[in-house]
Order: sequence, then structure tokens, then C-alpha cells
Amino acid sequence: MSPFRITRTLPEDAARAALAADVLAGLGSRPRSLPPRWFYDARGSELFERITGLPEYYPTRAEREILTDRSGEIARVSGARTLVELGSGSSEKTRHLLEAMPELALYVPVDVSESALRGAGRELSERRPGLDVHAVVADFTGRLELPRGPGPRLVAFLGGTIGNLEPGERARFLSSVRELLSPGDALLLGTDLVKDERVLVRAYDDAQGVTAEFNRNVLRVVNRELSADFRPELFDHVAVWDAGPEWVEMRLRSRGAQTVKIPGVDLVVDLADGEELRTEISAKFRAEGVRSELAAVGMEVTRWWTDRGGRFALSLGVVR
Ligand code: SAH
Ligand code: AVI
Repeated sequence: MSPFRITRTLPEDAARAALAADVLAGLGSRPRSLPPRWFYDARGSELFERITGLPEYYPTRAEREILTDRSGEIARVSGARTLVELGSGSSEKTRHLLEAMPELALYVPVDVSESALRGAGRELSERRPGLDVHAVVADFTGRLELPRGPGPRLVAFLGGTIGNLEPGERARFLSSVRELLSPGDALLLGTDLVKDERVLVRAYDDAQGVTAEFNRNVLRVVNRELSADFRPELFDHVAVWDAGPEWVEMRLRSRGAQTVKIPGVDLVVDLADGEELRTEISAKFRAEGVRSELAAVGMEVTRWWTDRGGRFALSLGVVR
């Protein structure tokens, strides 16, 4: 029997209050926006898993290639006895790391999606019976209070999810990760790299429309949680590359003028024809940027691995 525990640090009512605050701030002012963490209810997590298998969405395959080739080296260099994974989702790629770490004492997957954590727990209990897994439902942009486990500790933040944080939020996040770590511990960070604009935009605007459904899912979440009356079919999915900050933006564009009521926050939103809500940024990185952002919080990049196509990077930031 694999020991699987799950701790909720986000009670349902606190999560709803956080959504309400984000909706009021983001939809109550212009330009309108919603933070991407609200995509991931059970349906959103399933849609994301479908995205990872799309022909246009290369990041998952590229990162898996690196993990397949480098997990042994990551295990050896980090010497990790505790692996904490932020935004772990299905933990599907993480199994390469887990397989390379037979001595691991504790795995702590952390995610806002309880359904994703429970699914990962079921998988792991079959694949790694005996591994101590303590899942935590938490927002990784908040205060991170996690089970400690023995050192050395490795914090993994995979998939390029760091690119979904606003630059200021990213700096605060990295410094809170640094606070979790002691000298000799490390951060394993996945970053998608700057590349041809057409490749990037296609990855966020696939032919089957799965990413469009994922994007519209945030409206369904707001409808369910705050009794809103968004009609998702009246919003077009938009993905654009912004060469200034080097990120892809996902937006939802109102098809026609429409009024949306959100009784849960006592808000009425009048949208003009063509008005857009920004639902996600997905920043793309360069090696020197990653090095300097980690250096700013006291971590040194000691390893930089890319897939053979040079599309995605995994870096190891070590605390001195
Ligand atoms: N790491 C996985 C999943 C990436 S999808 C992979 O590489 O495939 C992003 C994951 O982060 C989702 O599972 C989502 O639920 C989670 N997530 C997004 N914002 C979050 C937040 N603020 N706090 C905790 N988890 C978050
Ligand atoms: C989770 N995150 C890294 C994904 C990304 O590529 O920014 C989320 C996503 N959005 C659209 N497709 C995938």
C-alpha cells in the first residue's frame, strides 16, 4: 500500500473568495483580465492533459525528452531525498524523475487542482507502491507551507508554468521558493524558449480547438462559482505573440456587444463588440534571463539542458 495523503490548505470558501476578488479586480476594470489559475477545475485539468498531446503543443514533448535523457543526472547532482513539485498536475512527466530516484523519501505534489492531485496519487500508488506521497492543494503564489521531509530537497517547477506568472509575481514567487530551500538544495525549473513566432502561436491555437475550449473553460468556472451568465460560445479564442515582453497572450474576444451579470460579486459587465479579456500570458525565456532571475534570489544555475531541437530548457538552480 502506497502511503498517499492529501492536505487542503485552500478551503473551498477561501478559494471562492479568491476567485471573487480576482473577478472583481480583473473584470471590473479595463483592460479586462482573469488570472490563469482559474482554468484548472476538473474539466480544465482534463483539457490541459489533452493539450499536452496535441501535434502543435511541443513543450510537453520537449521537456519529456530532456527528462528521459537527464533524470539520472538530475538525481545524482541534486542527491534529493525530498521532491516538492509545484503545479504538478498529472505528475506524468515527473515519473521519469521518480524512477531515477529510488532513495527518495518523500514526494510532495502541490496544485490548485484537487482532481489532478487525486488522479496523480492513484497512478503513483500503482507505479511506486511504498513511496511516501503527501499531496497539497495550495496556491503556489501564496505562502508556501509544505511538509518538510529530509534534505537535500529538490523543488521542481516544470512545464513552463513559471511563464504564466506576471513578471512581478514571478520575482516574488522565486524568492518564496528560495525561502523553502537550504544551502545544497535546488530548484529544477522548466522554461519554454523564445522561438519562431508562427511555431509559438500555433502551439496556443491548435487546429482541433482544444486550447480554445480550455480558454473558454474559465468562463464556465466563473458561471458555476459566482452564478454568472457568460455564454462561452459567444467568445472567440485569440492567441498573439507580443515581441516586447516576449510572451504569448491568450484572450477571449466578445462576439458582438453583450452584457454579462456576475451576481456572486454583484457586478454587471458591458462588453463592446470585439472587446478582449486577457486570460493568460505564457512568457518565453532566454538562458541569460533565467540565470539573472535566479541569481537575483541567490541561486546559481549550475546545469542548463535543452531538448535536441533547442525548444525548451530545464535548468538546475542551486542554493549556495
Ligand atoms: N507540471 C505539469 C502541469 C502543468 S499545467 C506539466 O508540466 O504538464 C499547470 C498546473 O499548475 C496545473 O495543474 C494547474 O492546476 C496548476 N496551477 C496553476 N496555477 C496554480 C497556482 N497558482 N497554484 C498552484 N497550482 C497552480
Ligand atoms: C501550464 N502552462 C505552462 C501552459 C502554457 O503553455 O503556458 C498552459 C497553456 N495555455 C495554453 N496552452 C497551454
